[in-house]
Amino acid sequence: RYSAPMLTRRGFLASAAASATGAMFPISPALPGTAATREISLRAAPGRVRLVPLAETAAWLYNGTVPGQEIRLRQGERLRVAVDNALAEETTIHWHGVRVPNAMDGVPHLTQKPIGAGERFLYEFDAVDAGTFWYHPHQRSFEQVGRGLYGPLIVEEPEPIRVDRDFTWVLGDWRLTKSGAISEDFGNRHDIHHSGRVGNTVTINGRVPDGFTVRKGERIRLRLINAANARIFSLDFAGHEPIVIALDGQPVTPHAPDKGLVVLGPAMRVDLIIDMTGNPGSRASVTDRFYKGLEYQLIDLVYDGTPLRERAPDWPLALPANPLPEPDVGAASRNEVVFNGGMMGEMVAQDMGKSMGLGTPGSMMDNTNSMMGGMMRMMNSSTAWFINGVAADEASHDMKPMLTFEKDKSHIIAMTNATAWHHPIHLHGHSFRVISRNGKPTHHREWQDTVLISPREKVEIAFVADNPGNWMFHCHILEHQASGMMAVFRVA
Ligand code: C2O
Ligand code: CU
Repeated sequence: RYSAPMLTRRGFLASAAASATGAMFPISPALPGTAATREISLRAAPGRVRLVPLAETAAWLYNGTVPGQEIRLRQGERLRVAVDNALAEETTIHWHGVRVPNAMDGVPHLTQKPIGAGERFLYEFDAVDAGTFWYHPHQRSFEQVGRGLYGPLIVEEPEPIRVDRDFTWVLGDWRLTKSGAISEDFGNRHDIHHSGRVGNTVTINGRVPDGFTVRKGERIRLRLINAANARIFSLDFAGHEPIVIALDGQPVTPHAPDKGLVVLGPAMRVDLIIDMTGNPGSRASVTDRFYKGLEYQLIDLVYDGTPLRERAPDWPLALPANPLPEPDVGAASRNEVVFNGGMMGEMVAQDMGKSMGLGTPGSMMDNTNSMMGGMMRMMNSSTAWFINGVAADEASHDMKPMLTFEKDKSHIIAMTNATAWHHPIHLHGHSFRVISRNGKPTHHREWQDTVLISPREKVEIAFVADNPGNWMFHCHILEHQASGMMAVFRVA
């Protein structure tokens, strides 16, 4: 499964020690009897890939592919990754959703010195939770992720549930020109102030897919990872009835998604069980229905001529729990967080059409009243989004903690989205329970690391602050993050 060279422990340590520029930290030797250590290397470098059938695209890649290789290990194993930076700028890797020690979290200037061009850095941590995770840079993410730097990280349960196939779809979203090149308008003001860089080409595992071949009666565990800068998916599986078994890597009571639609904001993951119930020889289109009037057909499920079995198996669906500390909601501290900023008003559908290059019905200035606030802000400042009134400056190298959470205590963060836009809000270093939406308890009290908050919605999350350090808290629409929508939370 590993496409990158597997290094021997000796060879690896020797090469790491030989790197004069890489930031070094002591490596604790594996104790006898402890779980295995996986060693891989990832090299970030420019390269060319075939995203669309008829053209090659210059992109930024890990080990020459997009997504980067699927890193797969067993729960309890240790992962050691040597990252070589062959880009012309600094980078880092963040292990999204993995509860790593602070120094391994990959946030430049906060948890590590960025990896300079030509330098190497060694990440090492234990896979404490089983689940579906991913990795990506945390340095100028809006451009580095948008050019193709991301990959899946799968941690298998010691005894996975039974399925016929366990398959990962990494969803990518690109803004391509007619010749298949990546549009160079990264970080433009329009994207920043609206819904972010929503592209015009969706890829699955780095290709515009033709089809996904399945067999009648087959049970598939489909791990969806939204690696897009900004695109939100609401997937309709065309008459199939997917069952959600994990969100953001964390097991949840198996359930059918609301209205049958599987929703993923940027950075979010959903593990589905799908029983393939179609007839041999048939096709069914998986469609994204998030943007009204701009439905997008993602991929066809293509049924093979031969059924695997006549009816769906009745194997158990529930995953074993991960070792997460349970928050004591009654005793928890309460912290209010309000998100502000962006263009105001009801321009969402119009904006989406524009972002996707589909032409805009009517001129932007038709909507003068609702736009004035946003326009003023746009003209006055390069920051667009605020957390509790503060727009973080990504270029500043010493962000001060906005909130401090007492270590090993329970905390609630009550978040209010006072904007006209959706925001997938991500907390580093911890998973949290989503306990209420607009004052109503959630059905599943799901564990997440990224929660999608609708315009004007209030969401409460609860967690035990058991991982000490300074952690990022930010919107995962990467253009929003880059233009103010992030903060540092301290656990001490
Ligand atoms: Cu996936 Cu702070 O990032
Ligand atoms: Cu946002």
